[in-house]
Amino acid sequence: MADPLRDRFVVLGVSGSIAAYKAVDLASRLVKAGARVDVVMTKAATQFVTPLCFQSITHRRVVDDLWDRNSEMAVEHVGLAKRAAAILVAPATADLLAKMALGFAEDALLTTLLDTRAPVVIAPAMEGDMWANPLTQEHVAKLRSLGMAFVEPEEGRLASGLSGRGRLADPEAILGTLRQVLGRGGDLAGRRVVVSAGGTQEPIDPVRLITNRSSGKMGYAIAEAARDRGAEVTLVTAPTALAPPHGVAVAPVDTARAMHRAVEGAARGADVLIMAAAVSDYRVANPAEQKIKKRGEAADGLTIELVPNPDILQEVTGDFVRVGFAAETEDLLANAGAKLRKKGLDLLVANDVSGAGSGFGSDTNRVILLGRGGEIEELPILPKRAVADAILDRVVAILAGRGRGAGGRRWVETHR
Ligand code: C5P
Repeated sequence: MADPLRDRFVVLGVSGSIAAYKAVDLASRLVKAGARVDVVMTKAATQFVTPLCFQSITHRRVVDDLWDRNSEMAVEHVGLAKRAAAILVAPATADLLAKMALGFAEDALLTTLLDTRAPVVIAPAMEGDMWANPLTQEHVAKLRSLGMAFVEPEEGRLASGLSGRGRLADPEAILGTLRQVLGRGGDLAGRRVVVSAGGTQEPIDPVRLITNRSSGKMGYAIAEAARDRGAEVTLVTAPTALAPPHGVAVAPVDTARAMHRAVEGAARGADVLIMAAAVSDYRVANPAEQKIKKRGEAADGLTIELVPNPDILQEVTGDFVRVGFAAETEDLLANAGAKLRKKGLDLLVANDVSGAGSGFGSDTNRVILLGRGGEIEELPILPKRAVADAILDRVVAILAGRGRGAGGRRWVETHR
Protein backbone atom coordinates (compact mmCIF):
# COMPACT_ATOMS: atom_id res chain seq x y z
CA MET A 1 0.00 0.00 0.00
CA ALA A 2 1.37 3.33 -0.99
CA ASP A 3 0.74 6.82 0.30
CA PRO A 4 -3.04 7.30 0.55
CA LEU A 5 -2.60 10.57 -1.34
CA ARG A 6 -1.18 8.87 -4.43
CA ASP A 7 -3.47 9.18 -7.46
CA ARG A 8 -6.33 10.55 -5.36
CA PHE A 9 -8.40 13.56 -6.32
CA VAL A 10 -8.06 16.14 -3.58
CA VAL A 11 -9.86 19.48 -3.59
CA LEU A 12 -7.82 22.15 -1.83
CA GLY A 13 -10.18 24.92 -0.72
CA VAL A 14 -8.47 28.23 0.00
CA SER A 15 -10.21 31.12 1.73
CA GLY A 16 -9.14 34.71 2.34
CA SER A 17 -6.59 34.72 5.09
CA ILE A 18 -3.00 35.90 4.83
CA ALA A 19 -2.14 32.24 5.48
CA ALA A 20 -3.36 31.60 1.92
CA TYR A 21 0.28 31.82 0.85
CA LYS A 22 0.96 28.70 2.95
CA ALA A 23 -1.66 26.86 0.91
CA VAL A 24 0.72 27.16 -2.05
CA ASP A 25 3.21 25.01 -0.13
CA LEU A 26 0.43 22.58 0.78
CA ALA A 27 -0.55 22.32 -2.88
CA SER A 28 3.06 21.59 -3.77
CA ARG A 29 3.38 18.89 -1.10
CA LEU A 30 0.13 17.29 -2.24
CA VAL A 31 1.33 17.21 -5.84
CA LYS A 32 4.67 15.73 -4.76
CA ALA A 33 2.79 13.01 -2.87
CA GLY A 34 1.07 12.08 -6.13
CA ALA A 35 -2.36 13.63 -5.51
CA ARG A 36 -4.38 15.29 -8.27
CA VAL A 37 -5.10 18.64 -6.76
CA ASP A 38 -8.01 20.85 -7.76
CA VAL A 39 -7.76 24.22 -6.07
CA VAL A 40 -10.98 26.10 -5.36
CA MET A 41 -10.51 29.65 -4.09
CA THR A 42 -12.85 32.20 -2.58
CA LYS A 43 -12.77 35.69 -4.07
CA ALA A 44 -11.05 36.98 -0.93
CA ALA A 45 -8.32 34.33 -1.29
CA THR A 46 -7.50 35.64 -4.77
CA GLN A 47 -6.64 38.98 -3.14
CA PHE A 48 -3.76 37.27 -1.34
CA VAL A 49 -2.55 34.72 -3.90
CA THR A 50 -3.32 34.50 -7.59
CA PRO A 51 -5.02 31.47 -9.15
CA LEU A 52 -2.09 31.34 -11.58
CA CYS A 53 0.24 30.60 -8.68
CA PHE A 54 -1.73 27.46 -7.76
CA GLN A 55 -2.26 26.52 -11.38
CA SER A 56 1.49 26.59 -12.01
CA ILE A 57 1.97 24.06 -9.21
CA THR A 58 -1.00 21.77 -9.76
CA HIS A 59 -1.03 21.96 -13.59
CA ARG A 60 -4.79 21.95 -13.29
CA ARG A 61 -7.36 24.67 -13.77
CA VAL A 62 -8.07 26.62 -10.60
CA VAL A 63 -11.70 27.39 -9.83
CA ASP A 64 -12.34 30.80 -8.33
CA ASP A 65 -15.64 31.82 -9.83
CA LEU A 66 -18.92 29.95 -9.63
CA TRP A 67 -20.24 31.94 -12.56
CA ASP A 68 -17.33 31.49 -14.93
CA ARG A 69 -18.90 29.73 -17.91
CA ASN A 70 -15.59 28.17 -18.88
CA SER A 71 -14.80 26.67 -15.52
CA GLU A 72 -15.45 23.09 -14.53
CA MET A 73 -18.04 24.31 -12.04
CA ALA A 74 -20.18 25.54 -14.90
CA VAL A 75 -19.47 22.76 -17.37
CA GLU A 76 -19.73 19.85 -15.00
CA HIS A 77 -21.77 21.64 -12.35
CA VAL A 78 -20.38 20.26 -9.12
CA GLY A 79 -18.10 17.71 -10.74
CA LEU A 80 -15.31 18.44 -8.31
CA ALA A 81 -17.51 17.77 -5.30
CA LYS A 82 -18.40 14.33 -6.60
CA ARG A 83 -14.97 13.34 -7.82
CA ALA A 84 -13.01 14.39 -4.73
CA ALA A 85 -11.65 11.65 -2.48
CA ALA A 86 -11.29 14.34 0.18
CA ILE A 87 -11.57 18.09 0.54
CA LEU A 88 -8.94 20.00 2.45
CA VAL A 89 -9.85 23.54 3.44
CA ALA A 90 -6.67 25.43 4.32
CA PRO A 91 -6.72 28.13 5.44
CA ALA A 92 -10.31 28.32 6.65
CA THR A 93 -11.33 31.80 7.85
CA ALA A 94 -13.88 32.53 10.58
CA ASP A 95 -16.18 33.82 7.85
CA LEU A 96 -15.92 30.59 5.86
CA LEU A 97 -16.51 28.43 8.96
CA ALA A 98 -19.64 30.42 9.78
CA LYS A 99 -20.97 30.05 6.25
CA MET A 100 -20.15 26.34 6.16
CA ALA A 101 -21.92 25.78 9.47
CA LEU A 102 -25.02 27.50 8.12
CA GLY A 103 -24.96 25.78 4.73
CA PHE A 104 -24.31 28.83 2.57
CA ALA A 105 -23.60 28.17 -1.10
CA GLU A 106 -22.69 31.59 -2.40
CA ASP A 107 -19.42 30.76 -4.12
CA ALA A 108 -17.56 27.90 -5.75
CA LEU A 109 -15.92 26.66 -2.53
CA LEU A 110 -19.07 26.71 -0.42
CA THR A 111 -21.04 25.02 -3.21
CA THR A 112 -18.42 22.28 -3.49
CA LEU A 113 -18.43 21.74 0.27
CA LEU A 114 -22.21 21.60 0.44
CA ASP A 115 -22.49 19.21 -2.45
CA THR A 116 -19.82 16.67 -1.50
CA ARG A 117 -19.98 13.40 0.34
CA ALA A 118 -16.21 13.21 0.56
CA PRO A 119 -14.52 13.61 3.95
CA VAL A 120 -13.56 17.19 4.79
CA VAL A 121 -10.44 18.29 6.68
CA ILE A 122 -10.35 21.89 7.88
CA ALA A 123 -7.27 23.87 8.94
CA PRO A 124 -8.41 27.25 10.26
CA ALA A 125 -6.25 30.38 10.42
CA MET A 126 -7.30 33.72 11.88
CA GLU A 127 -6.66 36.20 14.68
CA GLY A 128 -6.49 34.54 18.09
CA ASP A 129 -9.55 36.31 19.43
CA MET A 130 -11.58 35.40 16.35
CA TRP A 131 -10.69 31.73 16.87
CA ALA A 132 -11.51 31.94 20.58
CA ASN A 133 -14.79 33.73 19.91
CA PRO A 134 -17.73 31.59 21.10
CA LEU A 135 -19.45 32.07 17.74
CA THR A 136 -16.49 30.61 15.87
CA GLN A 137 -16.23 27.80 18.39
CA GLU A 138 -19.92 27.05 17.99
CA HIS A 139 -19.47 26.74 14.23
CA VAL A 140 -16.45 24.51 14.71
CA ALA A 141 -18.41 22.28 17.09
CA LYS A 142 -21.25 22.06 14.58
CA LEU A 143 -18.92 21.11 11.73
CA ARG A 144 -17.13 18.57 13.93
CA SER A 145 -20.45 17.00 14.85
CA LEU A 146 -21.04 16.49 11.14
CA GLY A 147 -17.84 14.46 10.95
CA MET A 148 -15.47 17.09 9.61
CA ALA A 149 -11.90 16.78 10.89
CA PHE A 150 -10.08 19.85 12.25
CA VAL A 151 -6.39 20.55 12.40
CA GLU A 152 -6.45 23.25 15.02
CA PRO A 153 -4.47 26.45 14.62
CA GLU A 154 -1.24 26.81 16.51
CA GLU A 155 -0.08 29.32 19.05
CA GLY A 156 2.43 31.87 17.80
CA ARG A 157 3.00 35.21 16.15
CA LEU A 158 0.12 36.31 13.94
CA ALA A 159 0.11 38.59 10.89
CA SER A 160 -1.20 41.45 13.04
CA GLY A 161 1.97 41.33 15.09
CA LEU A 162 0.05 40.03 18.09
CA SER A 163 0.57 36.52 19.29
CA GLY A 164 -2.12 33.99 20.06
CA ARG A 165 -3.70 30.78 18.83
CA GLY A 166 -4.54 31.34 15.21
CA ARG A 167 -1.59 30.36 13.02
CA LEU A 168 -2.27 27.79 10.36
CA ALA A 169 -1.11 24.40 11.66
CA ASP A 170 2.15 22.86 10.50
CA PRO A 171 1.85 21.44 6.96
CA GLU A 172 2.87 17.96 8.12
CA ALA A 173 0.11 17.97 10.73
CA ILE A 174 -2.40 19.02 8.07
CA LEU A 175 -1.28 16.41 5.57
CA GLY A 176 -1.05 13.77 8.33
CA THR A 177 -4.71 14.31 9.17
CA LEU A 178 -5.63 14.25 5.50
CA ARG A 179 -3.79 10.95 5.02
CA GLN A 180 -5.47 9.53 8.10
CA VAL A 181 -8.90 10.52 6.77
CA LEU A 182 -8.15 9.08 3.32
CA GLY A 183 -6.88 5.86 4.88
CA ARG A 184 -10.04 5.22 6.86
CA GLY A 185 -11.23 2.56 4.46
CA GLY A 186 -7.81 0.85 4.37
CA ASP A 187 -7.04 -2.80 5.04
CA LEU A 188 -6.31 -2.11 8.74
CA ALA A 189 -9.55 -0.19 9.32
CA GLY A 190 -11.03 -1.03 12.71
CA ARG A 191 -7.76 -2.62 13.91
CA ARG A 192 -5.78 -1.48 16.92
CA VAL A 193 -2.05 -1.55 16.30
CA VAL A 194 0.62 -0.95 18.94
CA VAL A 195 4.11 -0.06 17.73
CA SER A 196 7.20 0.45 19.87
CA ALA A 197 10.11 2.52 18.60
CA GLY A 198 13.44 4.05 19.50
CA GLY A 199 16.22 2.97 21.78
CA THR A 200 15.41 2.75 25.48
CA GLN A 201 17.58 4.69 27.93
CA GLU A 202 18.88 3.26 31.17
CA PRO A 203 20.18 5.83 33.65
CA ILE A 204 23.61 5.42 35.22
CA ASP A 205 23.27 8.63 37.22
CA PRO A 206 21.22 11.83 36.70
CA VAL A 207 23.32 12.88 33.70
CA ARG A 208 24.53 9.65 32.09
CA LEU A 209 22.72 6.78 30.51
CA ILE A 210 23.10 3.59 28.51
CA THR A 211 21.34 3.55 25.18
CA ASN A 212 21.89 2.31 21.63
CA ARG A 213 22.01 3.55 18.04
CA SER A 214 18.32 3.15 17.26
CA SER A 215 16.93 6.29 15.56
CA GLY A 216 13.27 5.25 15.80
CA LYS A 217 12.81 5.73 12.04
CA MET A 218 11.63 2.17 11.37
CA GLY A 219 9.03 2.17 14.15
CA TYR A 220 7.77 5.64 13.24
CA ALA A 221 7.43 4.57 9.60
CA ILE A 222 5.38 1.55 10.69
CA ALA A 223 3.14 3.70 12.90
CA GLU A 224 2.57 6.12 10.03
CA ALA A 225 1.91 3.37 7.51
CA ALA A 226 -0.57 1.64 9.87
CA ARG A 227 -2.37 4.96 10.36
CA ASP A 228 -2.55 5.46 6.60
CA ARG A 229 -4.14 2.02 6.27
CA GLY A 230 -6.93 2.89 8.69
CA ALA A 231 -5.58 1.49 11.96
CA GLU A 232 -5.94 3.11 15.34
CA VAL A 233 -2.29 3.34 16.31
CA THR A 234 -0.49 3.71 19.63
CA LEU A 235 3.19 4.51 19.35
CA VAL A 236 5.16 3.67 22.49
CA THR A 237 8.36 5.53 21.93
CA ALA A 238 11.69 5.90 23.64
CA PRO A 239 13.29 9.34 23.07
CA THR A 240 14.08 10.06 19.40
CA ALA A 241 14.81 13.14 17.31
CA LEU A 242 11.68 12.52 15.22
CA ALA A 243 8.29 14.22 15.24
CA PRO A 244 5.66 11.56 15.85
CA PRO A 245 3.21 11.05 13.00
CA HIS A 246 0.04 13.07 13.35
CA GLY A 247 -3.10 11.13 14.19
CA VAL A 248 -1.28 8.52 16.25
CA ALA A 249 -1.59 8.20 20.06
CA VAL A 250 1.89 8.66 21.50
CA ALA A 251 3.12 7.16 24.77
CA PRO A 252 6.60 8.55 25.51
CA VAL A 253 8.83 6.37 27.71
CA ASP A 254 12.51 6.22 28.59
CA THR A 255 13.57 2.98 30.25
CA ALA A 256 12.83 -0.61 29.24
CA ARG A 257 10.70 -1.05 32.32
CA ALA A 258 8.64 2.04 31.48
CA MET A 259 8.24 0.70 27.95
CA HIS A 260 7.15 -2.66 29.37
CA ARG A 261 4.37 -1.02 31.39
CA ALA A 262 3.24 1.18 28.49
CA VAL A 263 3.21 -1.69 25.97
CA GLU A 264 1.36 -3.93 28.41
CA GLY A 265 -1.35 -1.29 28.85
CA ALA A 266 -1.62 -0.41 25.17
CA ALA A 267 -1.62 -4.03 23.98
CA ARG A 268 -4.70 -4.93 26.00
CA GLY A 269 -7.38 -5.64 23.42
CA ALA A 270 -5.04 -4.74 20.53
CA ASP A 271 -5.00 -6.66 17.24
CA VAL A 272 -1.31 -6.25 16.50
CA LEU A 273 1.88 -5.60 18.50
CA ILE A 274 4.96 -4.62 16.54
CA MET A 275 8.08 -4.26 18.68
CA ALA A 276 10.42 -2.19 16.55
CA ALA A 277 12.10 -0.65 19.60
CA ALA A 278 15.68 -1.50 20.46
CA VAL A 279 15.21 -2.41 24.10
CA SER A 280 18.20 -2.41 26.43
CA ASP A 281 18.79 -5.98 27.48
CA TYR A 282 20.34 -4.73 30.73
CA ARG A 283 19.89 -1.84 33.11
CA VAL A 284 22.10 -0.43 35.84
CA ALA A 285 21.42 -2.29 39.07
CA ASN A 286 21.59 0.81 41.27
CA PRO A 287 21.60 4.12 39.36
CA ALA A 288 23.41 6.78 41.41
CA GLU A 289 21.23 9.57 42.79
CA GLN A 290 23.99 12.14 42.32
CA LYS A 291 26.40 12.53 39.41
CA ILE A 292 29.23 10.03 39.78
CA LYS A 293 32.48 11.90 40.33
CA LYS A 294 35.80 10.90 38.88
CA ARG A 295 37.64 9.13 41.66
CA GLY A 296 41.39 9.35 42.01
CA GLU A 297 43.18 8.62 38.76
CA ALA A 298 41.03 7.76 35.71
CA ALA A 299 43.14 4.64 35.42
CA ASP A 300 41.41 3.34 38.53
CA GLY A 301 38.41 2.46 36.37
CA LEU A 302 34.78 2.21 37.33
CA THR A 303 32.65 -0.90 37.43
CA ILE A 304 28.92 -0.64 36.87
CA GLU A 305 26.75 -3.61 37.71
CA LEU A 306 24.05 -4.45 35.18
CA VAL A 307 20.96 -6.60 35.70
CA PRO A 308 18.71 -8.00 32.97
CA ASN A 309 15.63 -6.15 31.78
CA PRO A 310 12.34 -7.92 31.14
CA ASP A 311 11.90 -9.17 27.59
CA ILE A 312 8.81 -7.17 26.67
CA LEU A 313 7.90 -9.16 23.58
CA GLN A 314 8.10 -12.41 25.46
CA GLU A 315 6.27 -11.26 28.55
CA VAL A 316 3.38 -9.26 27.09
CA THR A 317 0.91 -11.90 26.07
CA GLY A 318 -2.47 -11.67 24.42
CA ASP A 319 -4.46 -12.64 21.40
CA PHE A 320 -2.75 -10.21 19.02
CA VAL A 321 -0.48 -10.71 16.04
CA ARG A 322 3.06 -10.49 17.38
CA VAL A 323 5.83 -9.00 15.30
CA GLY A 324 9.42 -8.74 16.44
CA PHE A 325 12.64 -7.39 15.01
CA ALA A 326 16.03 -9.01 15.08
CA ALA A 327 19.01 -6.78 14.49
CA GLU A 328 21.95 -9.05 13.89
CA THR A 329 25.51 -8.61 12.80
CA GLU A 330 26.22 -12.30 12.10
CA ASP A 331 24.38 -15.57 11.31
CA LEU A 332 21.28 -13.53 10.52
CA LEU A 333 18.86 -16.27 9.52
CA ALA A 334 19.82 -18.82 12.16
CA ASN A 335 19.63 -16.27 14.97
CA ALA A 336 16.42 -14.77 13.68
CA GLY A 337 14.69 -18.14 13.31
CA ALA A 338 15.62 -19.06 16.88
CA LYS A 339 14.28 -15.72 18.12
CA LEU A 340 10.97 -16.21 16.31
CA ARG A 341 10.42 -19.54 18.03
CA LYS A 342 11.66 -18.45 21.44
CA LYS A 343 9.45 -15.38 21.54
CA GLY A 344 6.42 -17.11 19.98
CA LEU A 345 6.15 -14.60 17.14
CA ASP A 346 3.91 -14.61 14.07
CA LEU A 347 6.41 -12.61 12.07
CA LEU A 348 10.02 -11.65 12.53
CA VAL A 349 11.78 -8.86 10.68
CA ALA A 350 15.45 -9.68 10.49
CA ASN A 351 17.96 -7.06 9.50
CA ASP A 352 21.65 -7.20 9.14
CA VAL A 353 22.60 -3.92 10.78
CA SER A 354 26.18 -4.24 9.59
CA GLY A 355 25.25 -3.77 5.90
CA ALA A 356 25.38 -0.42 4.06
CA GLY A 357 21.95 1.25 3.58
CA SER A 358 20.49 -0.90 6.30
CA GLY A 359 19.72 -0.61 9.98
CA PHE A 360 20.32 2.14 12.52
CA GLY A 361 19.83 5.76 11.52
CA SER A 362 19.51 4.95 7.83
CA ASP A 363 16.47 5.99 5.78
CA THR A 364 16.50 2.66 4.03
CA ASN A 365 16.53 -0.87 5.28
CA ARG A 366 17.23 -4.32 3.94
CA VAL A 367 15.28 -6.99 5.75
CA ILE A 368 14.22 -10.60 5.56
CA LEU A 369 10.73 -11.47 6.75
CA LEU A 370 10.32 -14.81 8.52
CA GLY A 371 6.89 -16.31 9.11
CA ARG A 372 5.83 -18.71 11.81
CA GLY A 373 5.31 -21.49 9.26
CA GLY A 374 8.87 -21.25 7.92
CA GLU A 375 8.10 -18.73 5.18
CA ILE A 376 11.01 -16.54 4.18
CA GLU A 377 10.87 -13.40 2.09
CA GLU A 378 13.97 -11.42 1.34
CA LEU A 379 13.31 -7.79 0.43
CA PRO A 380 15.70 -5.54 -1.47
CA ILE A 381 17.02 -2.29 0.05
CA LEU A 382 13.91 -0.12 0.38
CA PRO A 383 12.92 3.14 2.05
CA LYS A 384 11.79 2.40 5.61
CA ARG A 385 8.24 3.41 4.70
CA ALA A 386 8.17 0.73 1.96
CA VAL A 387 9.57 -1.83 4.42
CA ALA A 388 6.82 -0.78 6.84
CA ASP A 389 4.16 -1.42 4.22
CA ALA A 390 5.67 -4.80 3.33
CA ILE A 391 5.52 -5.78 7.02
CA LEU A 392 1.92 -4.60 7.26
CA ASP A 393 1.01 -6.55 4.10
CA ARG A 394 2.05 -9.71 5.97
CA VAL A 395 0.23 -8.60 9.12
CA VAL A 396 -2.97 -8.06 7.13
CA ALA A 397 -2.62 -11.53 5.61
CA ILE A 398 -2.06 -13.08 9.05
CA LEU A 399 -5.14 -11.30 10.44
CA ALA A 400 -7.17 -12.49 7.45
CA GLY A 401 -5.84 -16.04 7.92
CA ARG A 402 -6.94 -15.98 11.55
CA GLY A 403 -10.40 -14.90 10.45
CA ARG A 404 -10.59 -17.98 8.25
CA GLY A 405 -9.52 -20.28 11.07
CA ALA A 406 -6.60 -22.67 11.15
CA GLY A 407 -6.83 -23.44 7.44
CA GLY A 408 -6.02 -19.87 6.41
CA ARG A 409 -3.73 -19.40 3.45
CA ARG A 410 -0.07 -18.74 4.04
CA TRP A 411 1.04 -15.20 3.34
CA VAL A 412 4.01 -16.05 1.18
CA GLU A 413 5.84 -19.04 -0.19
CA THR A 414 9.09 -17.68 -1.42
CA HIS A 415 12.32 -19.48 -0.70
CA ARG A 416 15.87 -18.43 -1.20
O1 C5P B 1 16.54 -10.66 21.59
P1 C5P B 1 16.57 -9.41 20.83
O2 C5P B 1 16.84 -8.19 21.67
O3 C5P B 1 17.41 -9.40 19.60
O4 C5P B 1 15.07 -9.31 20.29
C1 C5P B 1 14.66 -8.26 19.52
C2 C5P B 1 13.16 -8.13 19.58
O5 C5P B 1 12.67 -8.29 20.89
C3 C5P B 1 12.72 -6.77 19.16
O6 C5P B 1 11.45 -6.87 18.56
C4 C5P B 1 12.69 -6.01 20.48
O7 C5P B 1 11.82 -4.91 20.41
C5 C5P B 1 12.21 -7.08 21.43
N1 C5P B 1 12.74 -6.95 22.80
C6 C5P B 1 11.89 -6.77 23.86
N2 C5P B 1 12.38 -6.67 25.13
C7 C5P B 1 13.70 -6.78 25.37
C8 C5P B 1 14.59 -6.97 24.30
C9 C5P B 1 14.08 -7.05 23.03
O8 C5P B 1 10.69 -6.70 23.64
N3 C5P B 1 14.14 -6.68 26.61
